[in-house]
Amino acid sequence: MRHITLIPGDGIGPEITEAVKAIFSAANVPVTWEEENAGQTTFDAIGELIPSTLIASLKENRVALKGPITTPVGKGFKSINVQLRQMFDLYSNVRPAKTTPGIDTKFSNVNLVLFRENTEGAYSGLEIFDERLQISDSIARITRTGCEKIIRAAFEYANKHNCKKVTAVHKANILKSAGALFLSIFSQIAKEYPHIQADDKIIDNMCMQLVVKPEQFDVVVTTNLFGDILSDLCAGLVGGLGVVSGANIGSDMAIFEAVHGSAPDIAGKGLANPTALLRSAIMMLHHIDLKEEAGRIEAALDATLANKEECTGDLGGRAGTMEFANNIIAKL
Ligand code: NAI
Repeated sequence: MRHITLIPGDGIGPEITEAVKAIFSAANVPVTWEEENAGQTTFDAIGELIPSTLIASLKENRVALKGPITTPVGKGFKSINVQLRQMFDLYSNVRPAKTTPGIDTKFSNVNLVLFRENTEGAYSGLEIFDERLQISDSIARITRTGCEKIIRAAFEYANKHNCKKVTAVHKANILKSAGALFLSIFSQIAKEYPHIQADDKIIDNMCMQLVVKPEQFDVVVTTNLFGDILSDLCAGLVGGLGVVSGANIGSDMAIFEAVHGSAPDIAGKGLANPTALLRSAIMMLHHIDLKEEAGRIEAALDATLANKEECTGDLGGRAGTMEFANNIIAKL
């Protein structure tokens, strides 16, 4: 039995983690969940935003599945998600976006994987506010080491999965220093993979290209803020936030989580789509080499997604979260 840390999170988090647990149990996946939470709920209960028991569990298990955690907007504590990524140097945020037959979208042939740098850039936390002058400075620091790690991770993935092209996304026409650093490292590393095509796009053009001709992209690599925004855009191309998975991967730890947040507008109503978290859990199974279990669950999920009636409201169906999970279980 492999021990996995499970962080249910806030909002719809507990509902979708229950759904994933039920599917894993029905599929006899040989994992044991170690449940630990973080955020406002644990702060209210025990006075810790990231409890020491969670940190110990992560250090021990090295693999976690995580529900979304609410971050106060414009005030309050620093995002727990960002803190966990920085604490354990989970520098690669890997977010696949692939068209699923049965899910109605404007495009029928999207198949790309976004590599977002996950620990620095605009999320470094370097913000200074001058109260008297009413001036705010936010420093988006990127480093050679950080760029090298994420760009290499993207090329390694492309190499392993026989992808044809890696596209770097930047704003080097305006952010000349950061852009030059990122792009020079990109072209250096690209030379080590001569069989993979390497090109680059300025972020604004990239957004336009993605909504006009998304099939031209294969592996995309970018800095933290651009990657955060692009991944929601890519989610929209393939069926929305309810269906896209993600992983935060470092050299010796990985936390798998959906791209979406805690969705307070639908929390507690049993309406949330568990697909995004389930797909993240399937990525986790590949990561820990439980490929047979991953394949079985994915096949049952795809068979369910092919019938709109059996899906949640965001996909045009009428099922609630657990009903949708039970439809998947019936196909295992
Ligand atoms: P959100 O992703 O929670 O919701 C955006 C829209 O998508 C909402 O209309 C929501 O109902 C819908 N949606 C999201 N997930 C869905 C699902 N599984 N099924 C059906 N519909 C779904 O983004 P929002 O509202 O901007 O953020 C809410 C909170 O989540 C904030 O506190 C934010 O900081 C946090 N957040 C946490 C993340 C994490 O833990 N990794 C990631 C993104 C946001």
